[in-house]
Amino acid sequence: MPHDQSLFLQPASAGDYRELARRRLPRQFFDYLDGGAYGEATMRANSDNLRSVLLRQRVMRDVSRIDLRTEVLGQQLAMPVVLGPVGLAGMFARRGEVQAASAAQGAGIPFCESTVSICSIEEVRAVSAPFWYQLYVMRDRGYVRELLQRAHAAGCPVLLLTVDLAVVGARYRDVRNGVTAIKSIKGRLARAWDFASHPSWLADVALGGKPLVFGNLREVLPHAQSLTEFRSWIDAQFDPSVTWDDLGWLRDNWPGKIVAKGILDADDARIAADIGLDGVVVSNHGGRQLDGVPSAISALPAVVEAVGDRIEVLVDGGIRSGLDVVKALALGARACLLGRAWAYALAARGGAGVSHVLDILHKEMEVAMALTACPDVHSITRGALASVSGWRSQHDSGDGKHEERRAQCGSIKAMSS
Ligand SMILES: Cc1cc2nc3c(=O)[nH]c(=O)nc-3n(C[C@H](O)[C@H](O)[C@H](O)COP(=O)(O)O)c2cc1C
Repeated sequence: MPHDQSLFLQPASAGDYRELARRRLPRQFFDYLDGGAYGEATMRANSDNLRSVLLRQRVMRDVSRIDLRTEVLGQQLAMPVVLGPVGLAGMFARRGEVQAASAAQGAGIPFCESTVSICSIEEVRAVSAPFWYQLYVMRDRGYVRELLQRAHAAGCPVLLLTVDLAVVGARYRDVRNGVTAIKSIKGRLARAWDFASHPSWLADVALGGKPLVFGNLREVLPHAQSLTEFRSWIDAQFDPSVTWDDLGWLRDNWPGKIVAKGILDADDARIAADIGLDGVVVSNHGGRQLDGVPSAISALPAVVEAVGDRIEVLVDGGIRSGLDVVKALALGARACLLGRAWAYALAARGGAGVSHVLDILHKEMEVAMALTACPDVHSITRGALASVSGWRSQHDSGDGKHEERRAQCGSIKAMSS
């Protein structure tokens, strides 16, 4: 960490908030937040591949006015950033989803409420303007319909349908922490000690943040409040038989925009566009599902190429700075979702932390846009990049237009990974 040699009196980046979250959260919650699936190679690739995208510095242009405003899925945003769905955020800080939604509103961007949130749709709506809602397609369609009605009644304009959770990838950290199943007395004591040795979290969340239940699932999961119960419910409820054909049912039950979250393949993106969805989020669930799939940023160009002129393409995975956002926009994304970046900040400092990290990202974007001579979001194109190296996207794999794009980009040094 860069602050190893500093006084570290205040956080300067999303990465600093990760360190603060590590100190504040019980180990089992930090690992749930920080970890990925299996060997975590895809999770690491999300960030590593973003680092290997280089911005093209341009100088001596008039960059006295930088405008980050943009329109995403029919909404005006202060910057092309969305707080993506993070389940159990209310375990990171007292009534965490409420705090995060208020921070998002203050920053002029959407908050997306996860189905598996601690605070219910109605609790969040009581303090916030309409937000986005994230849904899993569950076996109990009657309950899904009820959730959709509640989200619609709260005025949610956008539904993110998470499509990459037909089955659940193993997260070794959760297994090691006994989150998936813990029965022994020794295990229970170890977890109790984990809570007891984090007194500020204990006071803020475990005691002050009650009720710690799944606010949207109270009727079906009235007593569940631990990661273990959450996992067993997921295993039982998520429906691996769902196909694109089921989306007709969803369309009939949701009047707003529908966006498929968890697309990595251009062919899947084409199907999403063909059946009339409004957008896709290029995502590997932050490396928390299938390890060994491409990083989100490397999958992005092919999806943009396939459907970018028909539907909106958003991306998430490894976004930790405004520079990352500018890189994703240059590769064709309409906006970026944040996952861990906002959740670390929430865990460290509640809503104030989320507001701060959004402010940091805003300022980082301004600098990146000024020094790539992109005064507004629409001017961020491939021309803002100097090179992309270390991974080869499907987009750059010899479809005839490659050389043309190479020229546009300056030099895209796509090396085989
Ligand atoms: C702790 C945690 C919980 C998450 N819960 C959900 C969820 O409930 N629904 C969902 O669609 N995605 C969920 N995600 C995935 C995020 O929406 C997002 O795709 C991912 O975090 C992006 O990667 P990043 O964290 O590297 O930015 C979760 C991610 C994390 C880290």
